[in-house]
Amino acid sequence: MPTQPHKYAVFVSGRGSNLKAILDAHAEGRLSHLPSLVITDNAQAYALEYARQYGVETLFIDPKAHKGRKAFAAYTLEELRRRGIDTICLAGFMRIVDGLLVEAFRNRIINIHPSLLPLFPGLDAQKQAVDVGAKESGCSVHFVDEGVDTGLVILQAKVALEEGETAETLSKKILAHEHRIYPIVIQALLEDRIRLADGRAVIVEKGE
Ligand code: GRF
Repeated sequence: MPTQPHKYAVFVSGRGSNLKAILDAHAEGRLSHLPSLVITDNAQAYALEYARQYGVETLFIDPKAHKGRKAFAAYTLEELRRRGIDTICLAGFMRIVDGLLVEAFRNRIINIHPSLLPLFPGLDAQKQAVDVGAKESGCSVHFVDEGVDTGLVILQAKVALEEGETAETLSKKILAHEHRIYPIVIQALLEDRIRLADGRAVIVEKGE
């Protein structure tokens, strides 16, 4: 175990159902710690409601006030360091994270994506799956690196596409799995139970 417990921030831009799943997981005892901070680039994000309900500090960082990705990242980094936060969980954060943050949080920054990566990276992953007639898709929790949805995969969940599946029905099915697996990975990250070896990331049990 680390000498200091890890402190994490969740980055959101919109609806916030994954943030809600994280907060609920804590309330239900499946996650040992609440996030120390919720950061958003969208002051209207519904996600902020959930953070407030659970008494988690929120911080709106206005992209217009910081010229360019690097400046936005530098300011974000300062705010995180000031609070002793060493772990970042992206949950529907609609901005590409600058390399400055990726470097500063190497292997401590994760994202959830609604496909079985490396398939269907980027936007509208569920529609991409439906459009090519994929037989299965799912979601992936992965480390964030300098690319878009290219970092090492930590955990995935699969769903089957049925006849008549639409992007909407698929999104709903995948989301249920997102909500289940993201807290599992966050807890593992908080307990330093994600082992990196031979180009793979594996969650190990306590004491392994
Ligand atoms: C989720 O589908 C997540 O996989 C993707 O963005 C969506 C965010 O949804 N990165 P929500 O804001 O957590 O409800």
